[in-house]
Amino acid sequence: MIGKVLEIDNETINVILDDGINQGNLVNQYLIINSANKLLVGEVINIKGKNINAKLIGEIIDNEFVFGVINRPNVDSKVYLMAKDKIPLIISVTQFDDSKDFYLGMNPVHDIPIGVNINKFFSQHYSILGSTGSGKSCGVARIFQNIFYKKVPPLDMHLCIFDAYGEYNKAFSGLSNLNPNLHFKAYSTNLENQDSLIRLPAWLLSVDDLALLLEADKPSQLLIIEKALSLVRLFKSNSEQVEAYKNDIIARAILDVLLSGRPASQIRDQVFSVLSVYRTNELNLDTLIYQPGYTRNLKQCLLIDKTGKITEMELLIAFFNQFVLEDTRRDTIDEYVTYNLMDLDDAFNFALVSEGVLKSDHVYDEYNTLRVRIHALANGDYHHYFEFDHYVDRDTYIKELLMPNGVNIQIVNFNINYVDDRFAKNLVKIYSKMFFDYEKELKDRGTFPIHLLLEEAHRYVQNDNDVNVLGYNIFDRITKEGRKYGLILGLISQRPSELSETCISQCANFIIFKTTHYRDTEYIRKIIPNITEDIVKQLKILQPGNCLAFGSAFKVPVLVRLDMPDPSPNSDSVDVSSEWFSRV
Ligand SMILES: Nc1ncnc2c1ncn2[C@@H]1O[C@H](COP(=O)(O)OP(=O)(O)O)[C@@H](O)[C@H]1O
Ligand SMILES: [Mg+2]
Repeated sequence: MIGKVLEIDNETINVILDDGINQGNLVNQYLIINSANKLLVGEVINIKGKNINAKLIGEIIDNEFVFGVINRPNVDSKVYLMAKDKIPLIISVTQFDDSKDFYLGMNPVHDIPIGVNINKFFSQHYSILGSTGSGKSCGVARIFQNIFYKKVPPLDMHLCIFDAYGEYNKAFSGLSNLNPNLHFKAYSTNLENQDSLIRLPAWLLSVDDLALLLEADKPSQLLIIEKALSLVRLFKSNSEQVEAYKNDIIARAILDVLLSGRPASQIRDQVFSVLSVYRTNELNLDTLIYQPGYTRNLKQCLLIDKTGKITEMELLIAFFNQFVLEDTRRDTIDEYVTYNLMDLDDAFNFALVSEGVLKSDHVYDEYNTLRVRIHALANGDYHHYFEFDHYVDRDTYIKELLMPNGVNIQIVNFNINYVDDRFAKNLVKIYSKMFFDYEKELKDRGTFPIHLLLEEAHRYVQNDNDVNVLGYNIFDRITKEGRKYGLILGLISQRPSELSETCISQCANFIIFKTTHYRDTEYIRKIIPNITEDIVKQLKILQPGNCLAFGSAFKVPVLVRLDMPDPSPNSDSVDVSSEWFSRV
């Protein structure tokens, strides 16, 4: 016993220490208050002479700590210092079980290892936050190393890291030395390294994926993408008929113009402009039109006579009509069709004509933007990421990624260091959606949990315009529904205030390293449920590698000092002095 309860003020109690008790090292210690056969727990906040103030935090019931204050102690209740071997009841797991719990780090106040239940932490979304250099990357590497270094490692884990700087290769590439059944695979956007290039087959890109890649900003633009997708499948499924399909599309568009009733000069100009952009071998401005007696090319047939009419209007109509296909419904669409962005670019051209957008400048501009973008994408460096050398469907693609030849790759690392931020964001979104859809459609829900870890998550998980264009933001959707299907999101960020609010508020657990910027501390205070002023204060003064962990896997917020990872990620700051003074 160290003293007795003197006063109670709401959740704070004042304790008067017995004579001879050394009060010097009591701050942050846990107290047990024995009152009316109840064991209440308090944490010492401050000491003034023989008086200590403690905050009530919970109760010990059946040898388990229960967070929350329902009962208050009576005045004069006996107060004890909690024995060190009981402290894990509050800040760790009661009995560490290697198959169910993982070691997070040491609690520096009580010098106690912190065990965390794997299910309580990893079956819900979580955030790892903190200023740059506070220890996030090292922390993440260490947490997963702690899990992989167990006697029985997690052979069936499927962790995909979207690694903004390619830091994690160093921390995990040696996994198979620990156990031959552990595998790490790195993909990268580095074009110099074709063997491990990130490759996502173009034919797996859905309308929504393309809308993201092409930065569509209006829902109406989805129509043209849909059309282009159906055309590219049609063209690639029936290669011997492609020309006929294209002729059909061009002919219909031109017939529309010819029959529009507009002034002849306008009709002529429009036909000219269509055919100068959209043409096939059989149908272009130089195509010869035969007539008994003489032959002219198409251009010549568009001449306007003295009366202001296109003399050969009827001839032209008959000519174009022969390219119109009667019934296109019989066309086969090959289930296993493959195509690349070049094919898609070509299909976009025809989608534009086919949708009759040439008739309206306004719609034309809206659609043409997308066409210009797909053209740039197909002809730029990024098209390599959408080339794939054999047919796969989505499920096979995911299986080949995570379990090639049936061998499980526990960690797949996507290094997205070499592309611009926008593209990186879209790539991450497309993959995330693909995993989400896969999980959602899995027959036995939750039997193949996939874990997505996003480094620099604020670059991807933002309040984007997607909701207005697609009707959803994939990360909002994953944080709301992913858990049911076994898709868990881990967000790592130095700028929590730039993260989508919906996503962060859906996280169940938080590991927060030193956070200095007031905007971020304010944001953390606002958005995270149950965070106290105390925690916010502590966040500002943490040393690198020290964090506050709280959420549903923790009974109370716990201060944790993580061990340095071994090996560490490639995240060290530049050694400026040795770079500056390298020549002696
Ligand atoms: N657990 C740790 N113990 C001691 N020092 C650490 C620890 N974690 C990180 N550090 C130090 O902080 C530096 C930055 O860590 P890092 O994980 O790269 O930060 P962040 O990812 O938050 O920018 C490391 O290079 C290391 O020197
Ligand atoms: Mg980092």
